[in-house]
Amino acid sequence: METKIIFTDSDLDIREAVGQAVALLRAGELVALPTETVYGLGANALDPEAVAKIFEAKERPSFDPLIVHLPSKTALREVTEIPDEIEKTITQLVETFWPGPLTLLLPKRDVIPDIVTAGLQTVAVRQSDHPIFRRIIKQFGTPIAAPSANRFGSISPTSATHVSEQLGGRIPLIIDGGACSRGLESTIVRVSPGPKKPLIEVLRPGPITEDDLKKFGKVVFVGRNAAVEESAPEAPGRLASHYAPRTPLRLVEDPATFTPDPAKRYALLSYRGQEKDGYLPLHDWAKVAVLSPGSGRLTEAGIRLFHLMVQLDQGGYDEIIAEPVPDRGIGRAILDKLRRASHPRKA
Ligand code: TXA
Ligand code: MG
Repeated sequence: METKIIFTDSDLDIREAVGQAVALLRAGELVALPTETVYGLGANALDPEAVAKIFEAKERPSFDPLIVHLPSKTALREVTEIPDEIEKTITQLVETFWPGPLTLLLPKRDVIPDIVTAGLQTVAVRQSDHPIFRRIIKQFGTPIAAPSANRFGSISPTSATHVSEQLGGRIPLIIDGGACSRGLESTIVRVSPGPKKPLIEVLRPGPITEDDLKKFGKVVFVGRNAAVEESAPEAPGRLASHYAPRTPLRLVEDPATFTPDPAKRYALLSYRGQEKDGYLPLHDWAKVAVLSPGSGRLTEAGIRLFHLMVQLDQGGYDEIIAEPVPDRGIGRAILDKLRRASHPRKA
């Protein structure tokens, strides 16, 4: 299959892109679309045959459920059944963070096919705020199931080029909306009543942080994909290898513990690129890539993380050594990705 890429540089291009994307979605085909977090591989969420093509193109195991993107806030009530006891909190979260990078886990209605949720009774939903994604889903008028547009187990794509490297030849169309403005996948939460105030469990840390969420309830971080792991015992080991580049990557939490092998070429994935952080002077690095040059801003590091991981992966180094970033705000999500990419892999 030939994969077409449509750029969205002008108004005319955008109209063309939206028209072609919607036509393919209506025909039950796949389209890779830009979102503010990472690129998604979209299909009509209400059409099980279209959704099956996502699993095939990504080589994704069928026990790993997909995120459903909604055309509007009101569509939430059409695809989910919100329990009365969390209705208020869900409404507050939706009003505050949608459209945006917050995904909610809620009991699903029958319109959502089982293949989307891998047989679970809950569905993960969000509304993207990417302008091109919004135009496409508005015109399509139907929820779009879209996981990240990478092959299963690889790094999520933050550019159309990266999508094309992962899925070129397997899908008919990629809409190029430029680099993703967040660069990290959405925060996934599950809400329950809790003893005193609502409990907000974070299943995947992301751009919406603990600070953002704590006004709405007690925030706790739980193992990623806890819901899936409960229902699919084979999941944990396999999902632990997410986000991994092919080149071995190692998160070195303390520079004193790094003893280079003189026969190897190492690349350093540095946070700020500053000598005083202790990593730069450790070794004569074959390459140094910096997440947030200068002052060290975690939002910037988040935007650049996957982009630089892919770039370093293509450099032919023996190993990528990653510096930790501060464990606060979006730093928590960045550390989570680095730990999951790190070898030997943590379960
Ligand atoms: O930012 C994002 O969320 C991107 C963009 C494209 O929207 N999407 C994304 O989708 O990251 P994906 O499929 O790569 O990650 C979704 C995660 C998976 O780890 C899946 O296991 C989990 O959400 N998930 C989906 N439905 C679930 C459910 N019902 N219960 C528990 N986990 C679920
Ligand atoms: Mg993914």
